[in-house]
Amino acid sequence: MKMPLITKENFFRELEKEPKPWQEEYLAMYCSQWKGATTDPHLMLIPIDDHLVHRGDGVFDVMRCVRGNIYQMEAHLERLERSARAISLHLPPDYTEVRDLIKALVVMGGEKECLIRVVLSRGPGSFSTDPSDCIGPQLYINVIRFRPLPASCYEEGIGVVTSAVPIKKAFFANIKSCNYLPNVLMKLDALRAGCRYSIGLDEEGFIAEGSTENVGVFTQDGVLKFPGFKRTLSGITASRIFELAKRLVEEGIIKDVIFANIRPEEAYEAKEMFLTGTSLNIVPVVAYDGRRIGEEVPGPIYARLTTLLWEDMTNNDALLTRIDWDHPAKILEGEGCQRPVSI
Ligand SMILES: Cc1ncc(COP(=O)(O)O)c(C=O)c1O
Repeated sequence: MKMPLITKENFFRELEKEPKPWQEEYLAMYCSQWKGATTDPHLMLIPIDDHLVHRGDGVFDVMRCVRGNIYQMEAHLERLERSARAISLHLPPDYTEVRDLIKALVVMGGEKECLIRVVLSRGPGSFSTDPSDCIGPQLYINVIRFRPLPASCYEEGIGVVTSAVPIKKAFFANIKSCNYLPNVLMKLDALRAGCRYSIGLDEEGFIAEGSTENVGVFTQDGVLKFPGFKRTLSGITASRIFELAKRLVEEGIIKDVIFANIRPEEAYEAKEMFLTGTSLNIVPVVAYDGRRIGEEVPGPIYARLTTLLWEDMTNNDALLTRIDWDHPAKILEGEGCQRPVSI
């Protein structure tokens, strides 16, 4: 095998030899090591000696920009800060400007439908596990084009299976860390079973969560149940749906909405079941471990909750961070920065 010697001079030439079509979705990135932003996916790199890379020593959160405005930004940042506190990760100095940075990056990316990934890392320094080797925490923000699930998932529903992967202990489940190996293995379980998603159980056999989704079950007796957030990430989508579902209780459409222990057997018998998450909203589950759920089609509670959530995501001023796309201010400096950015 012949191996080219990579130098600063030929690095990008070598990198660009192979097409990377998936990178077409990468719109913009901020990196606190440069204190700058880029729209070139080739530059969206993280140093290998950042402990984030070789130890998973970092935390992250993902929020969504819908029709040009960011939904639940504060809730996501609050969870990010909670995750950072839980692993004694100090906020990097530039985090004080994280809101402006996020808005600026979204406009740089130029897409009104996008996902924003905010990562806080322990920082570069060595290949050890010792955080004191690091120069200090870093902030990385990526804006990625939003690609929804195929419409058929919402129109026809999806199948899920129980995963055999042991779920995280409560302490780790509540931290949105960059240590997602169990979640990755759950995804593999799902794919091997011919599904998109799988669901983990806790040691007592109660439903916990999906690889990156929370689970909701509308039971035979008309109660909407979510597993409590003790053994799962406190999903921002599930929490919001929980609040919105109270309207269905008021209208007498459902008896109650509660956090509860749910066994798979109860879910097999449920009228409806769904997964929730930032990038998928609510997806109806129509088969679980090969058993049909309800009528095996998306049900009326799913339909109502979807409408309520979408209304919230597009119209609830209290939860939307508005971006002024019509009057962008120029904040980028340097050559080739044509796109003005509003903050
Ligand atoms: C493990 C896990 N559970 C649940 C969720 C859903 O949370 P949210 O609704 O905040 O996206 C996620 C989302 O990233 C997750 O990673």
